[in-house]
Amino acid sequence: MDPRTLPFPAHLRAAGTAGAPWDAVASVADLPPGALLRVSRGDLDLLIAHTADGIAVVEDRCPHMAAPLSIGSLDGCIVACPLHRGRFDLASGEVDVFPTTGGLDADGTYHPTWAPPGSEPKPEPADAKARARALTRVRRFRYYPVRIVEGRIEVAIPG
Ligand code: FES
Repeated sequence: MDPRTLPFPAHLRAAGTAGAPWDAVASVADLPPGALLRVSRGDLDLLIAHTADGIAVVEDRCPHMAAPLSIGSLDGCIVACPLHRGRFDLASGEVDVFPTTGGLDADGTYHPTWAPPGSEPKPEPADAKARARALTRVRRFRYYPVRIVEGRIEVAIPG
């Protein structure tokens, strides 16, 4: 049986995807449950994620500092970034655990730096580099509509 696709909030749909052509990006067999896959079309890198609640497609760029999430890990619907320990919920588009560097959330609220247990506390922003991190806004995911057709994963990709 074909897997489900993950419903996403309508306001988080990627720009230009309404009416965009469907592009077969992978086969279902390439993406077992729990897998992450990077697919590129031109200069667009997509993350195809087989979450516990279905397949989701977003840009393969962390909403924090653009690291490729496809080399992170997936637990249920939570994708973990390989940098800064940020965790993001593909079911809602929201942050699950804020990056260790702190910064601004999508609404502009400041979150402090933090360190995992057993690590040295991170200093609060002081120099220009640290202030830049503090002013980095962690955005919500933007989703590419996806459908499953005869074992193919198809994504609406703007031309
Ligand atoms: S780039 Fe992903 S948490 Fe920082």
